[in-house]
Amino acid sequence: MTLSKLAVVVLAAGQGTRMKSTRPKVLHQIAGRTMLDHVLDSIEGLKPERIVVVVAPDLPAVAEAVAARPGGRVRTAVQDRQLGTGHAVACTKTALAGYHGAGGSGDVLVVFGDTPLLTPATLSALCARRRAADAPDLLGLAFQPADPAQYGRFVLDKKGQVLRIVEYADASSAERAIDLCNAGVLLGDGRVLFSLIESLGTDNAKGEYYLTDLFALANAAGHRTAVGEADPTEVLGINSRAELAGAEAILQTRLRANAMANGVTLVDPATVWFSADTQLGRDVTVQPNVFFGPGVVVGNDVEIRAFCHVEGATIEAGAVIGPYARLRPGTVVGAGARIGNFVETKNTVLGPGAKANHLTYLGDAQVGAKANVGAGTITCNYDGFGKHLTSIGEGAFIGSNTALVAPVRIGKGAIVGAGSIITEDVAADALAVGRGPQEARPGAAKRFRERRKSAGTGEKTGAGKKKGSSGKKKAPKRKKDG
Ligand code: UD1
Ligand code: MG
Repeated sequence: MTLSKLAVVVLAAGQGTRMKSTRPKVLHQIAGRTMLDHVLDSIEGLKPERIVVVVAPDLPAVAEAVAARPGGRVRTAVQDRQLGTGHAVACTKTALAGYHGAGGSGDVLVVFGDTPLLTPATLSALCARRRAADAPDLLGLAFQPADPAQYGRFVLDKKGQVLRIVEYADASSAERAIDLCNAGVLLGDGRVLFSLIESLGTDNAKGEYYLTDLFALANAAGHRTAVGEADPTEVLGINSRAELAGAEAILQTRLRANAMANGVTLVDPATVWFSADTQLGRDVTVQPNVFFGPGVVVGNDVEIRAFCHVEGATIEAGAVIGPYARLRPGTVVGAGARIGNFVETKNTVLGPGAKANHLTYLGDAQVGAKANVGAGTITCNYDGFGKHLTSIGEGAFIGSNTALVAPVRIGKGAIVGAGSIITEDVAADALAVGRGPQEARPGAAKRFRERRKSAGTGEKTGAGKKKGSSGKKKAPKRKKDG
């Protein structure tokens, strides 16, 4: 048998009551991406001709998430009422015309939207079995977890033919002792699958149309059935928050191992948290306790020191970040640039070799190459209504504790004196100082101390305070100094 064409069905119409959430289950995230996107990304790796996601009418966010995917080639089919996984697949009959009827046939692969760790390799190995000369008509995917929990159990004969799958809720204690569990993935000839689906019933503990009952029906109809096997860490089904955390831990372990295999030093791997799309160059070093949100690209030889939070940022080769830095979306740190402790950046581009080493906020800013942004500099980018741009020219020097009130431009090579509030543009190579002039009163400190000493401290304790008193001290009368 040759595999002519492949359609993939993703079941995502369940609310996921065990998650105890207003958000549909498949839109919960692991490694910064929804479970549904993880599943769809793996499936796209198979390059199927058609992908159909089964959605519920009362969970519009799922259809919206499908529509938002780049490429726009994933379709949806609506399951009006959630009558079970078998019923959900039956709802794709129209969307899969051409896979099971007079219009032609093809293979149909069913996966669950709550099984986010599946890899394309496992799925293509299963698809390859349909290309064998004596290919089974219907294939399941089994795994042997340490704890078989509430997964469906495969009942096989000695030759490996699947006699049936028994759901946990319906299983006898002898059947619950079987440790060959159903991962929820099913692959079959579209004609076989859709002809058997008509015969599914609801005579079971949950009163649902179980997709898993297709195996007993196939067996009874004389079809060949078989199972592929998967690594238990790949087929974890997520039904609760605890299982979500378990999947997150597995995926993080995978992402850390990938990073290290690709030449990244993780000083303490278990404390570094990645997003599924984090891209890291060669010889990057990541110190402990670093968080990568979605959309981070890091070039070669970058050092990210401890306790940084990085999201939606590009960090170019040789830059040094942190410790304790926060890079927010739209940040680009140029080659060899430095972002030090307690620096926050948002929608900001730092040119090569630029520095913002301490206690700074750069929002909606452009910082030229080799410019130096002193400690405590703040771009005042928001006026309560809109965001405004700050531009700092190449080689400019911004003195410490400066407020740059945007929109404002600091020219190339300009110097801004420490403690300035800059509201006007500064020309290239100019020096700008915007602060109150310093007043010096010789001997005034000494006279102040002597005056205070002779008057005593005047401090009172709160004890014996009258009822109803506000407790506030009266402001002392200002005496002219000197
Ligand atoms: C299912 C399998 C079980 C398997 C386990 C693997 C059945 C009957 N049971 O159980 O054998 O071991 O997955 O994780 O198939 N869904 C719909 N419409 C519905 C019902 C469900 O779209 O009417 C979707 C859900 O959104 C979910 C998926 O199907 O993504 C699986 O449903 P779920 O309720 O999680 O099934 P399990 O109880 O986990
Ligand atoms: Mg499930």
